[in-house]
Formats: sequence, C-alpha cells, structure tokens
Amino acid sequence: MVLIISDDISPPITRNVLSNKATITPESSLNEAWNEVLSEVRKATSEAQHPFRFVTLATVDKLNSPQQRMVVLRDFNGQSEFLIYSDSRSHKIGEILNNHSVSLLFYHPEKRLQLRVTGSAAIITSGDELQKLWEKYGSKSPHLYTSVLPPGTEISNPTEAYHWQSKEKAAFCLIKIEADKMEFLQLDRINHTRAVKIIQKDKKATRWIVP
Ligand SMILES: Cc1cc2nc3c(=O)[nH]c(=O)nc-3n(C[C@H](O)[C@H](O)[C@H](O)COP(=O)(O)O)c2cc1C
Repeated sequence: MVLIISDDISPPITRNVLSNKATITPESSLNEAWNEVLSEVRKATSEAQHPFRFVTLATVDKLNSPQQRMVVLRDFNGQSEFLIYSDSRSHKIGEILNNHSVSLLFYHPEKRLQLRVTGSAAIITSGDELQKLWEKYGSKSPHLYTSVLPPGTEISNPTEAYHWQSKEKAAFCLIKIEADKMEFLQLDRINHTRAVKIIQKDKKATRWIVP
C-alpha cells in the first residue's frame, strides 16, 4: 500500500515552495539521503532562520504522559548527539531525571522533510563545558535562566515573574541527547521516501521503510 499525503492535509506551504523538488528522491542512496538530512541538522545550529533550529522536545512525566515543548537546537555533533540549553528548575529537567527517554521532532517546510529522533537525555549542571557555554552564550542575555521564581510557578499576575537574581545564581543547564534511532520522511507527491537509522552500541543499521 502506498501512503498518499495530498497537499490538502500537508502543512501550509506557498506555491513557490511547492514547486521545489525534494532533495531526497527514490534514486538517492541511503548514504546520500542520510548525509543530506544530517547536514540540514548541522546547518540549523549556525543559521538562525533554519527551520530545524526550533525543534519539539518530548519527555515523559511521572504519570507516564508525554509532554512536549519547543526548544532551540544549540549543537549537533553530525552523528547522534544533540545539545539544548535550559533552566535546571524547569519541569522538563525533572521529567528527564526521572525518565531519560526523550524524542525530538524536526520539520523543514520548504524541503518537506520530517526528522524524528528518539534517544536518551542527560542533564549537565556543572563542569567546564557548561561554564564555557554560559560565558559564551548564556550570560550575554540579562534575564536568561535567572528568574527568582522557578519556571512553571503559578502566579496571580504576569509581572510577579519579572524579578531576577544575580547571574551567579543562574540555573543554566545543558540537555544532551544521545540518539539511538532516527527516522526521516521526505514528502514528494506520491514518491515519498522514508528511512530509519539505528545507532545502538551493539547495532548500527540504516534501512528504507514504507512511507
Ligand atoms: C520558539 C521557542 C523556543 C524555545 N526554546 C527553549 C529552549 O531552548 N530551552 C528551554 O528550556 N525552553 C525553550 N522554550 C520554552 C519551552 O518551550 C517551555 O515553554 C519552557 O521551557 C517550559 O517547559 P517545561 O515546563 O516543559 O519545562 C522555547 C519556546 C519557544 C516558543
């Protein structure tokens, strides 16, 4: 069975964009296809306007319910490691400490390319790497990660949130995600292409799969 995703149910895209050809085609090799996908992820870490820069991070809460939110992709090692900055007091950090399983979801509307990542997340709250990144990026913004009230605190008025502590008390932390599985879907009228990449210690494989 061939899944047909018509333009009626695809995310909104302009006529100009629709005429763009998919970068990954049925003629691409698995290697070419994955190189293309991973190079888009790399670009997102340096190009502010890249659509992969904002990514949905899903975690699992204490009641086993999925929780999702947008985050900024800060770094990618080209293979399987993704880096996000956050506030160590935010709910997502507690969820990750309780359950390391996470998922990332990317979508590039012009290329009509979806990337789904599952893996395990670690939280980094101290050390050289954190310190260097804080000095380079975090401390540049005056109110980043320094709210007096922790993120998610219920308040009676928005202005109650606008109190800041000193930068020394910033709750800056890193979320490092090590992927164990990635899957892309390239939409292209009826010639969609989809492939999976397994990146486990004892198993590494790439395969085409039915869209
Ligand atoms: C476009 C966009 C980018 C965001 N980037 C981040 C980010 O990089 N890190 C982060 O912790 N929160 C980021 N947020 C805020 C989160 O989506 C979320 O609202 C907040 O972190 C609280 O989430 P939590 O209660 O699940 O921990 C971003 C929100 C938007 C809309």
